[in-house]
Amino acid sequence: MKTTRTTVAVALVIAVVALLLAPAGAGAATLTAKQQLGKKLFFDAGLSEPAGQACADCHHPTAGYADPDHDLPTSRGVIQDRFGGRNAPTAAYASLIPTFGQMVCCNMGSTYRCGQFWDGRAATLVEQAKGPFLNPLEMNNPSKDTVVRDVKASSYASLFRQVYGSSSLNNVAGAYDKIADAIAAYEGSPEVNTYSSKYDAYVAGRTTLTAQESLGMSLFNGRGRCFRCHGSCGMGGGRMGSMGSANKAFSNFTYHNVGVPKNAANPYYTLPAEFNPAGYAWIDYGLGGVLKGRGVSGWELQNGKHRVQTLRNIAKTGPYMHNGAFTSVRQVVEFYNSRDTGAFGPAEVPQNLSADVGNLGLTSSEVDAIVAFLNTLSDGY
Ligand code: HEC
Ligand code: HEC
Repeated sequence: MKTTRTTVAVALVIAVVALLLAPAGAGAATLTAKQQLGKKLFFDAGLSEPAGQACADCHHPTAGYADPDHDLPTSRGVIQDRFGGRNAPTAAYASLIPTFGQMVCCNMGSTYRCGQFWDGRAATLVEQAKGPFLNPLEMNNPSKDTVVRDVKASSYASLFRQVYGSSSLNNVAGAYDKIADAIAAYEGSPEVNTYSSKYDAYVAGRTTLTAQESLGMSLFNGRGRCFRCHGSCGMGGGRMGSMGSANKAFSNFTYHNVGVPKNAANPYYTLPAEFNPAGYAWIDYGLGGVLKGRGVSGWELQNGKHRVQTLRNIAKTGPYMHNGAFTSVRQVVEFYNSRDTGAFGPAEVPQNLSADVGNLGLTSSEVDAIVAFLNTLSDGY
């Protein structure tokens, strides 16, 4: 009897110690072999040219899988004086975005839906992951060969062969596709998409919202009109929370020009002509630019449109909008509230402006309430 009790006590102590020692990012245990491989690739700073920049450097867990350098509107490449033209969005919850395409249902006035990047130019998460390695403004590899060479020489090459087969690193094109496949698997894993926010706890009935957060949610679903783009296509007309729906993304993945002004502080403007031939005159046409490049008729109607972003972890992913023009969430909401007064400067692309936002008539405390609600979307509650 005594022995049993001692054994139980010892077992308990061991269990408690094990819990205390478990990594903060719990959920690691639930990764499949392919997701584990994807994680190695995602965090490997050896896969840039020169070595020094991983996907995670611009999509870091501490910054909600967006760029932890909150002072820069857009991201710095591995070559220190190079910058991209756009703000890094979160890589978390991007796995919820369906394949790029033309949709007819629930279009909220948008002909196009879904796809990766602000402008939808990569159809899927796997296609997206093939981009950054070869982008001279990001990880700067001259070709797929250097990426595959570095993976071959890495500590996780055996894991790669275990997941994709013993000869999987022999053919460069095939190996490169598998690298992207593994990264996308990690991005879709429960470690990256934890659904562990106060909002999730509230929807599950495990906590209550404060009066201010609650007011914010009803404004989100009402006069603020946020749900029309950051809601779902489902029941409740896209409204989120208690009025809401099964949509977890806080985006219906449509494309809109909400009228974000030019951001003069965007360092991309200063890049040499080799990377930015137009200099300060460069205009980001978003989806319209992509469709024009593909020769799709009607591209003019898509100029200035970007894909609706998820609002999960929004408190951690600043600055905001495709060009990082806004530094706080409050500024974004105030912009939606009063764009049409001209207080924020003219839209970079004045065509195809959304009339859903711009003059919401919210009071200052109502703006605060919406921000308070958005703050409940941070994981790790
Ligand atoms: C130098 C910073 C940087 C690096 C390194 C980087 N990214 Fe990004 N990422 C960005 C930027 C900027 C965008 C938006 C670009 C655009 O829309 O044109 C982006 C977009 C994305 C998106 C699309 C999300 C959405 O909402 O559409 C995903 C997913 C992503 N990156 C994953 C990755 C992966 C995987 C890697 C490594 C292979 C990586 N990134 C490397 C800066 C970076
Ligand atoms: C007409 C559709 C539409 C409506 C309505 C709308 N949004 Fe957006 N939202 C977008 C689009 C599109 C973007 C990206 C715009 C860009 O970068 O050019 C965006 C971006 C954002 C961002 C920045 C995301 C990031 O990662 O940088 C926040 C925050 C945001 N919206 C909050 C709200 C709130 C709060 C409301 C309601 C007051 C709202 N939105 C209403 C379409 C909409």
